[in-house]
Formats: sequence, C-alpha cells, structure tokens
Amino acid sequence: MVTEQQALDILNKLKDPLLHKTLEETNGIVEVKVKEEKEHISVKIALAKTGTPEQMQLQTQIVQLMKDAGAATVGIRFTDLPEEELEKHRKAGDMPDETAGGLLAPDSKTTFIAIASGKGGVGKSTVSVNLAVALARLGKKVGLVDADIYGFSVPDMMGIEDRPVVRGKKILPVDRFGVKVISMAFFVEDNAPVIWRGPMLGKMLNNFFMEVEWGDLDYLILDLPPGTGDVALDVHTMLPSTKEIIVTTPHPTAAFVAARAGSMALRTNHEILGVVENMSYFESRLTGEKEYVFGRGGGEKLAEELRTELLGQLPLQQPDWNEEDFAPSVYDQEHPVGQVYHKIAEKIVRKLDQ
Ligand SMILES: Nc1ncnc2c1ncn2[C@@H]1O[C@H](COP(=O)(O)OP(=O)(O)O)[C@@H](O)[C@H]1O
Ligand SMILES: [Mg+2]
Repeated sequence: MVTEQQALDILNKLKDPLLHKTLEETNGIVEVKVKEEKEHISVKIALAKTGTPEQMQLQTQIVQLMKDAGAATVGIRFTDLPEEELEKHRKAGDMPDETAGGLLAPDSKTTFIAIASGKGGVGKSTVSVNLAVALARLGKKVGLVDADIYGFSVPDMMGIEDRPVVRGKKILPVDRFGVKVISMAFFVEDNAPVIWRGPMLGKMLNNFFMEVEWGDLDYLILDLPPGTGDVALDVHTMLPSTKEIIVTTPHPTAAFVAARAGSMALRTNHEILGVVENMSYFESRLTGEKEYVFGRGGGEKLAEELRTELLGQLPLQQPDWNEEDFAPSVYDQEHPVGQVYHKIAEKIVRKLDQ
C-alpha cells in the first residue's frame, strides 16, 4: 500500500493545468489521507481553475498513479486555490489574462469588425488602417489585427518600427496613432516569407486573440486576407458575432467578386455593416473635375445586392507624407480622404450604438 509521503512525492510533480506550475509550486495539495486497512487513499487538490476538461484529465491521471502505487480505491476532491495564492501567480505572469479570453467571451463588450474583400489590391489594408485610426480619433479604444498572415502589410503602412513587448506570458500590442496593432510581421525575421499550412494559420490567429493583452477594447478591426480562403473561413467560424465591411473598387466585375466575400459573411451569420468603395474616382487638383478611371457604380450595386448601405467612396489619392513621422498609408484627419474616413467612422459608431 502507498504511504502518505509516497503519494505526496507523486502528486507534487503534477502540474496545475492553467498555471503550468507543479502542485508543489502552487501549494495545490490540500490533503492526503491513507486508510491502510481499506487500501484507500483520498486526496484534495486545489487548482487555479476548477470544473474544466483539464481537471477531468488530471483526475484520471491521479487515479491511475495512485493505483499503480498500490491503492485499491482512490477518492479525489477538487477545490479552488485561495485568492492569496492566485495573486502570487498573477504577479509572476503565470495566470492567463482573463480580459484576453474576455475578448472572445460571449459577454465581451468588444465589437469585432472584419474588413473583407473579394480579391487583393482593392485597398482592404488601407481601409482597415485608416478606419482604425479614424475610430481612435473619435475617442474609441481600438485594436487592429493584421490577419493577412501571408501578405501582412499593416506595420509598413502605419510606419511601425517598434516591436511588441512580452510581459509574463503575454504579448503587448504596439500602439500607433492610438491604435493597438498586432501583425504577423512582428514575428517574422527580416521580412522572410511565411510558408505555413492551414491548421497553423488558424492557431496563429487564435494566439492573436488569446495571448495578446488587448485590455479593454471598443472595437477590434481585422484586416482579413483577400478572398474566401482558409483564414477568412477560420475567422468566420472562430468569431461568430463579427460585423463585416466589404471593400470593393467601382468596377462592376470587382463588385461581382466582392459579392462572394459578402455571401460568405451572410452564410456564417455575420452582419454586414456596409460597403466601402475605394479608388472611386480621380479628382483633378487643377480643375476639380472627377474622372471615374475604374468605372462606376460597383459599390452601389454591391450594397444593393447585399442589402446593406454604401458607407463611403474614397478617391484615388496618396496621403501627405510626413518625413519626420513616416506612416505612408495614413491620411491626416484634415486631408480630404481623412475626412471621408472620419465620416465612415461616425456612421459605424452610430450604427453599432443603435
Ligand atoms: N484610395 C487610394 N488611392 C491611392 N492609392 C491607394 C488607395 N487605396 C489603396 N491604394 C494603394 O493601392 C495598393 C493596394 O492597397 P492595399 O490596401 O494594400 O490593398 P489590399 O489590402 O486589398 O491588398 C497600395 O499600394 C495602396 O497604397
Ligand atoms: Mg492587404
């Protein structure tokens, strides 16, 4: 028959599933009692989180270990670690941040807004970046995930040179123009190409939500990869209550392709907030005349088809570049295009506050 000391030695080496620390380190063994005559052992274990599937696994493991050590029957009870103990692990950074899980929790106050398009090159990243900045200018707490894992471009567009800081087990996003940004670019050396298979992509995205310390957010903007591929689908299934904005160019065929992204959103019950038409026209600085170089009506037609509204039309124009604080794709608030983004952001806030 196993002795109390032998049982302790075995149990001490097991790990708290949430803290990834041994029960010895977490003071997680509350009680061990051996009833020699009945060959029975009873143990009481305190965990950082009870009632989880991991607890079930641990339970099975303990029963097996105790039986291997000679117990005929095993009784196990679980309880929560006391607050003082938890506080120690919070300070040490062992505790996964509750607010991060909270971002995906059903009662989360964060609205996810995915920016989608039928194909690349229509300005999805430009729109994601400038909408995020415009919402932050309205005083909102905004996060931006560059979910285009192969074609990440957000850090370059915003002129981000900092890298995220790691605190405990958490990654702190980089702050730029009041927007908290996370991108695959931060985790790739020297702009090397990323060659990954589907399941890893989904995992990476999940890490972006679970292991990044976002804090309180009003909105989390997701710059999706173009089209309706794996990652876009992952986002749709992983984030069931996401709102979507579809970006298109004004050419009727572009709108046709974008409609596919829209119908994917509808199929997965994502509410479409509206359509943004980009590269709508070129306005001559000299005469003020508008030329519709990429055709006309695509945004309007798409909005109609998806039974939503056209949130705005963005002309072809580069931001004014500021050599001291270089952010090549971010328009100033006073810039005419910055003004269009401002209006779109106001519309979005109004729509979501309803
Ligand atoms: N309204 C615009 N006027 C001028 N250039 C634009 C405009 N929108 C996007 N661009 C440029 O077009 C290119 C593609 O835009 P991007 O946002 O990267 O598209 P996507 O993310 O859909 O691939 C970029 O070089 C970007 O700077
Ligand atoms: Mg892009």
